[in-house]
Amino acid sequence: MEIKKVVVIGSGTMGSGIAAHLCNANIPVTLLDLKTEISEQARDKIYKSRPPLLLDKSKINNIKVGNVSDDFAEVAEADWVVEAVVERIDIKHNIYEKIFKERKKGAIVSSNTSSIPIKVLSQNLTKEEKKDFCITHFFNPVRYMGLLEIVKNENNDLEKINSLKKFCEIELGKGAIVCNDTPGFLGNRVGVYAMQIAMTEAFKMKLSVEEADAIFGRPMGIPKTGIFGLYDLIGIDLMEDVLKSFIKELPETDKLHVVAKEIPLVKKLIETGYTGRKGKGGFYRVNKANGKKVMEALNLESGEYFPSKKINIKSEKTDLKALISRDDKYGEYAWSVISKIIKYASSLVPDITKEFNDIDEAMRLGFNWSKGPFEMLEEISVNFFFDRIDEYKNNDFLENLAKTKNETFYGERQKYTDIETLGKVKKTATSIDGNNSAQIYRFKDYNIIEFTTKANTLDYDSMDALKKATDKPLIIINESMQFSAGVNLSYIMEFADKGDFESIEKFIRYFQETCKHLKYSDHPVISAPSGLTLGGGFEVMVQSNFVASHTNIVVGLVETMVGLVPAGGGCKEMLARWLETDEAKKDPHYAPLKVFDIIGYAKTATSPIEAEPMKYLKAEDKKIMNRNSLLEVSKKILTENRDFKAPNETKFNLPGKAVKNKMIKVLEKLHNDKIILDHGMEVGIELANVLSGGDTIIDKTLSEDDIFKLELNSFMRLIEMNKTKERIKHTLATGKPLIN
Ligand code: NAI
Repeated sequence: MEIKKVVVIGSGTMGSGIAAHLCNANIPVTLLDLKTEISEQARDKIYKSRPPLLLDKSKINNIKVGNVSDDFAEVAEADWVVEAVVERIDIKHNIYEKIFKERKKGAIVSSNTSSIPIKVLSQNLTKEEKKDFCITHFFNPVRYMGLLEIVKNENNDLEKINSLKKFCEIELGKGAIVCNDTPGFLGNRVGVYAMQIAMTEAFKMKLSVEEADAIFGRPMGIPKTGIFGLYDLIGIDLMEDVLKSFIKELPETDKLHVVAKEIPLVKKLIETGYTGRKGKGGFYRVNKANGKKVMEALNLESGEYFPSKKINIKSEKTDLKALISRDDKYGEYAWSVISKIIKYASSLVPDITKEFNDIDEAMRLGFNWSKGPFEMLEEISVNFFFDRIDEYKNNDFLENLAKTKNETFYGERQKYTDIETLGKVKKTATSIDGNNSAQIYRFKDYNIIEFTTKANTLDYDSMDALKKATDKPLIIINESMQFSAGVNLSYIMEFADKGDFESIEKFIRYFQETCKHLKYSDHPVISAPSGLTLGGGFEVMVQSNFVASHTNIVVGLVETMVGLVPAGGGCKEMLARWLETDEAKKDPHYAPLKVFDIIGYAKTATSPIEAEPMKYLKAEDKKIMNRNSLLEVSKKILTENRDFKAPNETKFNLPGKAVKNKMIKVLEKLHNDKIILDHGMEVGIELANVLSGGDTIIDKTLSEDDIFKLELNSFMRLIEMNKTKERIKHTLATGKPLIN
């Protein structure tokens, strides 16, 4: 079965997300809705979406649009028809009747339903038709969420399901998990239980909204939106519908019933329009007080809003055992929630899937958890769990495990895919070294380094580990959301606040030395980025010898946003890349001016396709849809480069003052137009100094070390300025740049 053309019916949130992602995979797709205006509007929304649903906006017209009355003949040409209309069974049944009359023989038809079982959806289909009908449950936003649940039942042609899975895995880059026809499938069944238990326990234990979110968040390896923040994000009213559907579908004995009961305060929120971020607010709201915006949180007892409090639970790292062992209400809450999630998830095996590992992977891919319930159990240790847990009746999985108390019960990870993933490989690797910021794994003929800090920000330890790991070919790769959000600014500010600029200088020098070492070591270094690859993270990537990039990256040099210039080789490498162009060979001002524009405006690219014209990525860098494949592709690069020789050192001929003056003219205009203020001017002048080559002339050849020195000197001058420190602090506190 080959999928060469797809029709998506229903152009709402999900239908347009699916169509956009098919377009990303270069698959011809037609998006149909009740009226063509609706699907046209959906296409406009795709174009304007942020973060962008498209890898390449210029491909927008590859998505054809139409309506279900005039353009239904499109269905006859499709190899796969995806139904993504509203969650109403009568509407869905009508559509299937039309589709099956029209479809090409053997074409797959699937529904994106999140709650209706296949047996209900397909009840009017013939036996032959049922063979080709399944559920493909994508997650929102489709481009970014890794999980795709393919739901089948006994009527399906399994070969066809498998080839659909392969297509979705390879072409669409999804973590495609095949599961049984049970309510909520894997992700939502466990995810919704987890949300409900986290919420109801917070009410029971009288934790505040902020306290619950501070625990059921990063410390548990769960996104920082926590539980109440997530409720607001999804929509409190939508969650109510989801719960109703579970209550209707699940047997009475299911523990989800216990936590799905209506909560009076939640009911009141919905009734009064406090449905979350899209409504007047929810558990959190932004209120205006004295002309200023204030973030407020709901008091769960009184139902009134108060200014939101920052909770410091004094645990930066995810250490579950330490968290559940705490002798306070936070420890008690964490244990109660985690143990109940483990109990619930394990009670579902083998009914919803025979592989417990699939549940963990669904939670990683669909809910961005860094570990699923069974991995949590493994981490806190089986013996510890059973020592503390009171009962686990009617739970075959736990009863069996209680007999063996086998600490290594887990076995292989990511069983849903044949790809040799980092997750699988790590399990069998020897961890040879590591520190607080990175872990080094050793294999027969190569090393892997995984950064391990929050957003993988970089510090002295990260550099230390990178340097150590180059005694063999090295792959820089990780499983978390971001490759690296750049240098750890809190780490820099700790020194700056003490006036210890020497330590900052020492760190920057070490950063430069390490990146140079990566570039010129005897063994090849490969970076395999996904997610944020910014600032220092970009500098590590760009000074690796090869790149295997996931298509979901956000890449760029953003230092000027915090009042700094790139100083780990970012200016140097961007200059080198632009100096190789034909234009630069004709005009010596071309490359410095181009790079000045890119770094000066802190331009970022949200896909490899956007990154290439800026030269953040090169044409020969590998661009990969499936994140799971990054390791295999990196290993292939190693095999193809067994006779690797380090590159020759780059040399630079830069025009110096002549081009610097041009840059300053640009800055003066921006300053006059009040687009930049005094500090922006100072940052711009420092950048101009680096990119022009400083005090040089075009005939003088500069080395990489010369450019490194210019970067360092400018960086040090800027970091000592109060305004730079103010900018950095603002960014650290708010996650946003200071605009002035
Ligand atoms: P939506 O309400 O955003 O869009 C539904 C679209 O279907 C609308 O554009 C509507 O005009 C169109 N439509 C209605 N009747 C139609 C008909 N007879 N023919 C053609 N088009 C018709 O809904 P959304 O959120 O995109 O959901 C679609 C499906 O995906 C539902 O089954 C939902 O349960 C499921 N789902 C939703 C998720 C979400 O996060 N929104 C996540 C996963 C699944």
